[in-house]
Amino acid sequence: MRLPTRVSICEVGTRDGFQIEPDFVPTERKIEVVDLLAACGVSRIEVTSFVHPKAVPHLRDAEEVMARIARRPGTVYAALVPNEKGASRAVEAGVDEVRTVLSASESHNLANVNMTIAESLERMRGVAEVAARARLPMIAGISTAFGCPFEGPVPLASLESLVGRLADLGARGINLADTTGMANPAQVFRAFERLAARWPDLEWSLHTHDTRAMAISNVLAAMEAGVRQFDASIGGLGGCPFAPGATGNVCTEDLVHCLHEMGVETGIDLDRLLEVSRRVEFIVGHPLPGRLIRAGKSDRRSPVPEAVRRRLAAR
Ligand code: COA
Ligand code: ZN
Repeated sequence: MRLPTRVSICEVGTRDGFQIEPDFVPTERKIEVVDLLAACGVSRIEVTSFVHPKAVPHLRDAEEVMARIARRPGTVYAALVPNEKGASRAVEAGVDEVRTVLSASESHNLANVNMTIAESLERMRGVAEVAARARLPMIAGISTAFGCPFEGPVPLASLESLVGRLADLGARGINLADTTGMANPAQVFRAFERLAARWPDLEWSLHTHDTRAMAISNVLAAMEAGVRQFDASIGGLGGCPFAPGATGNVCTEDLVHCLHEMGVETGIDLDRLLEVSRRVEFIVGHPLPGRLIRAGKSDRRSPVPEAVRRRLAAR
């Protein structure tokens, strides 16, 4: 494999994850988790989203969370926005990066943000202006980029034309999102290979959901195609309230462990991250899908069984 020496992880658990928890995660706990994640060396955190509080009531405290987190120097604190109003709120709240949301499929876009793709693109123009005025980078996210739970396959050509529109609006980067875990590694590789070759100056990133157990494989495929930024969620929290069957993101500590085992650096302290995952599990009050908190790292060793020990000693 041709492995990079380093990739960067954007933690999305406090946004993608907390938005879909059965219970509202108290503001205090959200702030705590963001601060704990930053202290682990996570370089980018999608803290929350500035959407309609009726659409996503669990993130209605976006302003307060942004105001009360401890801003660690060097950490990028981002937020998701669907329109100009969200962008203005995010800028006002002091985000470092504006991440937009629009779907590659018409029906998911309508379900998610109540707009056609054309209307969303028009809104994105306004978002780009708000971000530019505030001198903040805009990262354009494309949901259902690899398949839609309502419409099925998304042709690469339509993805390509969307990317073109977003690049024209001045997006610094494009985040392709596999909202309901429909992507496979070959598809992910082909998409990034083609798109990144056409727009080499855009920052490319991948947002995966592990709905069908392909998330880490998809990350590796994207890495092979040159992608160096990946979204992940502590403990494997996550899901889209507007996509049936959506489950958690690729689990941050599982992904970081996989990368570190391969010699790919992330700048994250994995042991501390595992402690955060246990803390998040306690906060949400139910088991999280991540594997590492149950299995331990690969360097975990078990005691040699007595009978085996005797055989070994007798040799
Ligand atoms: N934050 C807060 N309020 C907002 C808002 C925002 N980003 N955008 C719009 N509003 C308010 C408007 O001010 C207006 O308020 P008013 O009725 O008091 O005048 C009202 O919402 C309706 O505005 P409109 O533009 O018609 O919005 P809408 O009702 O069609 O909803 C979205 C569109 C995008 C705001 C809404 O669908 C949404 O927030 N979706 C969230 C999607 C999401 O987070 N999905 C999960 C992540 S993938
Ligand atoms: Zn997601």
